[in-house]
Amino acid sequence: MNLAPGSAAPTTKPVKMTATPRPILRGAVNFPVMLAPMVGLSHVSLRMAVREYLPQGAITMWPTEMLNSRRLPIERFDLVPEILRSPAETHMVPQILGNEEEPIRKSVARLEGEWGASGIDINMGCPVRKALSHNYGVSLMGDKGYAAEVVRMTVRHTSLPVSVKLRAGKGESGTQFLLEFAKGLVEAGAESLTLHPRSAEQKRRGKADWEQIRILRENVPCAVIGNGDVQTAEDALRMLSETGCDAVMVGRALTARPWMLWQLGEDLGSWAPPIGREGELAPRTSEEEGREYARFALRVLSLMQEFHPPREKAHWSEELLVRKFRFFLKNSAPWLYYGHDLEARASRATSLSHMRDIVSDFFYGPQAASQPMSARTDLRY
Ligand SMILES: Cc1cc2nc3c(=O)[nH]c(=O)nc-3n(C[C@H](O)[C@H](O)[C@H](O)COP(=O)(O)O)c2cc1C
Repeated sequence: MNLAPGSAAPTTKPVKMTATPRPILRGAVNFPVMLAPMVGLSHVSLRMAVREYLPQGAITMWPTEMLNSRRLPIERFDLVPEILRSPAETHMVPQILGNEEEPIRKSVARLEGEWGASGIDINMGCPVRKALSHNYGVSLMGDKGYAAEVVRMTVRHTSLPVSVKLRAGKGESGTQFLLEFAKGLVEAGAESLTLHPRSAEQKRRGKADWEQIRILRENVPCAVIGNGDVQTAEDALRMLSETGCDAVMVGRALTARPWMLWQLGEDLGSWAPPIGREGELAPRTSEEEGREYARFALRVLSLMQEFHPPREKAHWSEELLVRKFRFFLKNSAPWLYYGHDLEARASRATSLSHMRDIVSDFFYGPQAASQPMSARTDLRY
């Protein structure tokens, strides 16, 4: 992975990587940080708004929300909000939930052909009751042999790289279990693994145990992407250097601080600022970050209006979009000193344009105070 393409960006703190990075997406990825798949959040509008902070020349992969392989074969791709993508999006790796060959075969055929995926990710981390009752998501971690079989059946039906996102374990856990489980996936054809080192039972409670990322990286031959509790660019750099992982996947914090990508571009050395931000330095102080958050939140809102226009038979309504934006605020506003106030005001919005008035007034209205942002917050889940 080329971490410094030699462009003319200001370099603040060059960072040495500890291990030679292994290829992700068969070598297409050259930047070691990426957004995580998140239901209700990793939709086209958020992805496009986050992508605008990627340094020029940087290539990373992009997720979807998890998509059910039983529904994908029959869904209209242009009418389902979770499946929508922009033609401007590249290096898309949709995440599928599934455990049966026929639905997986049909799903990956459509994603590879019609939809234009660059890779396929298999969800082996979702701990919600519905996934458990259908025996997919993290349930697959309860059966090593079958989990490997799900990878094998996916690989059989696509020429794209297949990856798996997993947790530390379900019921059975411990390093030995994790390594045996992971080796089975790699033998079955998984080309990279993303580890969120919490057990199924922990859901998102407790602390992600990064040591498990290090152990996995040392013991499997493929790229390992570390995930869990990264809140700042410094955290991401620490995860890279402490665990030797090939890339870091960030979920909640990238919904709040997407310019972390820009900051990391500076920290890793010589990445140029994002398009349209030439000559600027990434926001760093809490005031600069607060100002950037206002701009970002309004951008997400604009993109939601652009990508989800009223459409006959579309599986979205104004009410659903308002709820989606509130969910975005619920996850991202906790980093703002007065984020609870913003969320309370947003709860009164009746349409996206009403939401825009509320958010603009909060940040720029006559009563607006400065909105500093904290480096860290108690992650709510
Ligand atoms: C609202 C929400 C929805 C999520 N949905 C998914 C999902 O669809 N697929 C998945 O693999 N993980 C999902 N996750 C887990 C994240 O991808 C990630 O592993 C977790 O949030 C830890 O990373 P973070 O501390 O950087 O947020 C979700 C997390 C959140 C907060």
